[in-house]
Amino acid sequence: MTEKTIRVFSGVQPTGNIHIGNYLGALKQFVALQEEGKCIYCIVDLHAVTLPKDPAELRENILDVAALYLAIGIDPKDATIFVQSDVPGHAELSWLLTCCSYTGELSRMTQFKDKSRGGDSAPTGLFTYPLLMAADILLYDSDVVPVGQDQKQHIELTRDLAVRINNRFGDDTFVVPEGRFLKEGARVMALDDPAAKMSKSAESEMSRISLLDDESKIKKAIMRATTDSDGEIRYDAENKPGVSNLLSIYSAFSGRSTALLEKDYAGQGYGALKKDLAEVVVLALRPIRRQYDDIRGSQELALVLKDGAERANGIAEGVVQRVKDKFGLGTKRL
Ligand code: TYM
Repeated sequence: MTEKTIRVFSGVQPTGNIHIGNYLGALKQFVALQEEGKCIYCIVDLHAVTLPKDPAELRENILDVAALYLAIGIDPKDATIFVQSDVPGHAELSWLLTCCSYTGELSRMTQFKDKSRGGDSAPTGLFTYPLLMAADILLYDSDVVPVGQDQKQHIELTRDLAVRINNRFGDDTFVVPEGRFLKEGARVMALDDPAAKMSKSAESEMSRISLLDDESKIKKAIMRATTDSDGEIRYDAENKPGVSNLLSIYSAFSGRSTALLEKDYAGQGYGALKKDLAEVVVLALRPIRRQYDDIRGSQELALVLKDGAERANGIAEGVVQRVKDKFGLGTKRL
């Protein structure tokens, strides 16, 4: 076996309703990258409290994501799975990055602009959220960060900060990470509104397929998905966003390119495409759901997270100390 030299890091917020967008954009990559690198996968609970959360619900949602990580095929013996707030280094490094960033660059983050809707009563945590994300990544000397397209701007900011700080203190301060995006699945759109991204928080259940949805709900959401009236099965994201989104989801789950799918379905109606897609999605999610049901109530989960936190802390403490030394902070060097 060749030695794995790259370090992979990513995270998912425990905010419920993990959906096929999260899976196709990020989680699927988490599994595949285990072959390539040393993987660290975080449940980013500190990010989840940028907006008010019910504590009991948050606790459950953290375990839901941990169980999903295992259910999709992340091997906890090899990969590190842990909860962000169990590792103090995230908050500590985040502060140092806050002191090296500009309000202007944070104001330009589109996710902040969308979520704050231009008002000045947006929570400060929403504004500084990208710095916590940058800290997550830089804290583990990560080389590769598998994410969906919506995180691209945050990854660019992380790179800018790493380069800026390296210019000040030396190139051995931070590893400059790279985002990893898939060709198909990096941006899955809402089924009922292909102009919007599929999201955990959209009000309508018909907008998304959650990984734990039952089979009849999956079929219903796909059969009802918004298409158009010209009846032609063709990939054209600009003019046919609904059909293109379905083709893209189909391609990501089946491994067949959208061009091949167009050929397969030439002359057929949207009904046939939707029916087959529903079957493909049901078959792909069935084993995940079964695994999840076995794991979610097991004692193993808490042990995995405890072990993961110890391993993560082991790396994070060293990196925080290295960076504090660069800044001239603390008394360890006295
Ligand atoms: P979150 O929890 O919103 O989403 C988790 C992952 O799913 C991807 N994703 C999508 N991909 C394709 N189509 C969609 N419709 C879609 N919706 C979400 C996201 O891009 C993400 O990869 N800020 C991050 C969490 C985070 C993080 C990090 C990620 C915090 N620290 C460090 C990587 C590294 C977020 O809110 O993801």
